Amino acid sequence: MKARIVTLPGDGVGPEVTAAAVAVLKTVAARYEHVFAFDEQLIGGIAIDTTGEPLPAATLAACRSADAVLLGAVGGPQWSDPNAPVRPEQGLLALRAALGVYANLRPLQVHPALANLSPLKNDKLRHVDVLFVRELTGGMYFGARTRTADAATDECRYSVAEIERVVRRAFELARNRRQHLTSVDKANVLETSRLWRSTVQRIAADYPDVKLEHQLVDSMAMLLLTRPNRYDVVVTENLFGDILTDEAAALAGSLGLLPSASLGDGRRGLYEPIHGSAPDIAGQGVANPVGAILSAALLLRHSLGLEVEAVAVEAAVEQVLRHGPHSRDIGGDAGTDAVRDAVIAAIDDHADTAAAFFCGARACG
Ligand code: NAD
Ligand code: IPM
Ligand code: MN
Repeated sequence: MKARIVTLPGDGVGPEVTAAAVAVLKTVAARYEHVFAFDEQLIGGIAIDTTGEPLPAATLAACRSADAVLLGAVGGPQWSDPNAPVRPEQGLLALRAALGVYANLRPLQVHPALANLSPLKNDKLRHVDVLFVRELTGGMYFGARTRTADAATDECRYSVAEIERVVRRAFELARNRRQHLTSVDKANVLETSRLWRSTVQRIAADYPDVKLEHQLVDSMAMLLLTRPNRYDVVVTENLFGDILTDEAAALAGSLGLLPSASLGDGRRGLYEPIHGSAPDIAGQGVANPVGAILSAALLLRHSLGLEVEAVAVEAAVEQVLRHGPHSRDIGGDAGTDAVRDAVIAAIDDHADTAAAFFCGARACG
């Protein structure tokens, strides 16, 4: 197939991990006979430095006409002055809103080979397989803000329609997994959470096959550490989802491992690792590219419909996590490029094995 993919490397380690993910996608294209055209554009701090805007019009236009968008990370200390008129993160938020990608899927699995890196005991980490569905285009991230000399406000607003569409997506995903959905809110205090909860309850009637539970966000933060393998799909609002998924990444062993897919109603999606620009390690060639590479796998699956290829990338990453090489954040000493090359070699192996199996089955010699 032919696909047009916009890449937004951004700031800090963004360009390093995005380059690795693009190399993986090029391997997939060559191996499986697809034609992927890559179009690199500016976002974030580098876009501010070059154009004055965190999301230049040319970037947004390219993203709107692409089949998928692959993003690295935005932000860094040089753009973090609290009095700065414009910030890199505004570019990312504006892009999410403009593309209408309201459902942010953040899958968490704990690889047995890395379980010793987690702050939790190994037995708690067996069979951890959680899909977080974070609402991405509403809530406090997008509410009105006010500021005077001695006070500030951030409005948190949700409409029923905004809640309903992301919750339906979560129910659909749960239906195709282990039929269990946990909805996380703060309904004992927040009005938006009470609207969230009653909307979830109403929609649940359409999904009698899915077992639903509600959990308050404070206890969920605790339960994620004490019983992480109890959860299947977890749906929550924007800010709670941001915080809980960084916590979840610690269970996996490193923030550098987790991918995400941001989806709207159409096929086009925005794919990014959940980590940031990691200014403390940027430019050293040591960032873990696995979160970005797994984001590319989600891109193949959700935007291009290439399930076999997505599984091939995930299997290759699994093999590298099992046998190494490992980057520094997960206890090894391999650089970004060495991990990338190992994943590419594993994809090649996988494709060769699959081809041999196919030919064997068809006796095509
Ligand atoms: P961060 O995620 O950048 O880093 C937190 C810690 O995790 C650091 O110690 C970092 O070295 C480590 N880490 C992150 N990714 C890694 C990787 N791939 N390999 C190895 N180690 C990795 O969070 P922060 O330091 O709080 O934020 C830095 C900047 O990134 C801020 O400007 C923030 O706004 C931005 N940010 C951007 C995104 C995004 O673009 N999606 C996400 C989160 C934070
Ligand atoms: C993330 C990041 C962003 C968010 C920031 C950079 C705006 O932390 O993607 O998780 O809070 O959504
Ligand atoms: Mn975050």
